Amino acid sequence: MKGKFIVFEGIDGSGKTTQINQLSKWLISNHLIPENNQLVITREPGGTELGQSIRSLLLDTSRDKNKSPDSITELLLYAADRSQHVNEIIRPTLNKGDWVISDRFCGSTLAYQGYGRKLDIKLIKNLETIATQGISPDITFLLDIPVEESIKRRMNRKDDRIEKEGREFLLNVSLGFQALSMDSKWKKISAINSKETIISEIQSEIKKLLKNK
Ligand code: TMP
Repeated sequence: MKGKFIVFEGIDGSGKTTQINQLSKWLISNHLIPENNQLVITREPGGTELGQSIRSLLLDTSRDKNKSPDSITELLLYAADRSQHVNEIIRPTLNKGDWVISDRFCGSTLAYQGYGRKLDIKLIKNLETIATQGISPDITFLLDIPVEESIKRRMNRKDDRIEKEGREFLLNVSLGFQALSMDSKWKKISAINSKETIISEIQSEIKKLLKNK
């Protein structure tokens, strides 16, 4: 039996980590994962050992700007990370009937490299087909926060190379996520509500997903 694949997306500071932890605790304590199956929590970039190295190449801020990955190199590195992630972790896990929750997946590439960097969406989708080989999430949660809130929440954190792009870039990324969340397999959740409200909205979407299996 194939397991469930759940993805969390959102601009930086949207609270994905907290919500992933809350959801996993709830799934386990309510025995919603089938008996004898497990829940695997992972992320992109960096869900595999190889991916960890790709993550540092992508997010390192110590390199001079002219020696940093150009936008096509950046896109290819995210695709390489995803291909390894799908083949090493996601597909084998789902094939065992285990569940996967991933912090980011293809939506991030469309939002950041497509809407943020303005790379060709068709090219991004072609690479997505190559990297995912038909694996797609059962549900994607977009944790939606205004750009100003993202900037405020990250004030005391060190920005990675992508976060350093600034307000306008992030605004375009956010518009990208809004557009992507129109898809019926995406659920947009307002992440400025109380933690309890966010948790209960996510739980109710998961209950619906389990009903429709
Ligand atoms: P994280 O901080 O949520 O782990 O994500 C790392 C950064 O990489 C974040 O700024 C978003 C960015 N990113 C992309 O630009 N494209 C992608 O395809 C992915 C997965 C992440």
